[in-house]
Amino acid sequence: MERTILLTGGAGFIGSHVAVELLQQGCRVIIADDLSNSCEDVVQRIGAITGREPIFYQTDVADRAALERVFAAEPVEAVVHLAGYKAVGESVQKPLMYYRNNLDSTLTLLEVMDAHDVRQIIFSSSATVYGEKNPIPYTEQMPTGGCTNPYGWTKYMIEQMLKDLAASDPRWSAVCLRYFNPVGAHESGLIGEAPNGIPNNLMPYVTQTAAGIRKELTVFGGDYPTPDGTCMRDFIHVVDLARGHAAALEYARRESGWIAINLGSGRPSSVLELVHTFQEANDIPVPHRVGDRREGDLASYYADATRAKELLDWQTEKTLADMCRDSWRWQQNSQGK
Ligand code: WQD
Repeated sequence: MERTILLTGGAGFIGSHVAVELLQQGCRVIIADDLSNSCEDVVQRIGAITGREPIFYQTDVADRAALERVFAAEPVEAVVHLAGYKAVGESVQKPLMYYRNNLDSTLTLLEVMDAHDVRQIIFSSSATVYGEKNPIPYTEQMPTGGCTNPYGWTKYMIEQMLKDLAASDPRWSAVCLRYFNPVGAHESGLIGEAPNGIPNNLMPYVTQTAAGIRKELTVFGGDYPTPDGTCMRDFIHVVDLARGHAAALEYARRESGWIAINLGSGRPSSVLELVHTFQEANDIPVPHRVGDRREGDLASYYADATRAKELLDWQTEKTLADMCRDSWRWQQNSQGK
């Protein structure tokens, strides 16, 4: 019997790749997305990749009546909760919008799930919950909090909601996946990261610079205490990340309770390493210069990925060069739209 899985925010960068992975594993996929940071033609493109389209509902997850209609119409067995605003800088400018949207949508979702006896949830969390004081590499037992922006605090608060819910009712299974730096795109070039406006994140800025859309990449800081002076990050291919979600769904089906799991490679790369790898892998220059540090950046952080291997039998398989090739193909095919 095929499983029906609901992806909130499933038309987004991470969600669309999770949808592809689950469809290819034989699941029936429902996407509820308000399209505030994605577009509906992603649904057709997911169908073009897998031969089967997800069932799409344009829905604000915080809209209880709309969400009730989805659960009444579809035999949802588990939920992957990806819907949420995620721009760090915007969250500092508009904290109430972030708290209202990210927390309201989660509370509504959990209440509707409970009312329909659906109690398996995979939550899109972030390494940002580790704050600034933990030693690297981060392990899941480390204290969380001390977030540096409202976006990070919403992830921390939602993890806490899920922890308290699972402690109050053993029928719940909640897996918080702490992403490190998702980059790359599906090898088809049909889905990928499509930021609105000027990209905040590194890889879309690199691909837009290579494409001539941006004049030059500024590497934020060359004087960090790292081997080449630029920041170190744990870049993870979005397809590896999607496979981690499929493995987490299987885990949530077997186990109950709350758990956090890092999704990272465990191998840090520097900003300049990524730029150089991109140039070599795609044989294309990326005009760049080293400029001032960006406020709020940490010098280096990356995952201890042991728990994911032990509990999910999951580890990353794709290389930095794969991430660079796949990101570039997506940029060329779509010009990032
Ligand atoms: C990576 C490195 C920059 C742009 C954030 C969020 C995290 C998650 C992923 C949502 C840093 C440098 C970047 C540029 C640069 N977000 N950089 N020039 O900040 O590690 O993580 O995005 O889920 O929660 O915190 O990612 O891609 O913005 O930056 O030099 O034009 O690239 O300084 O060192 P970050 P990023």
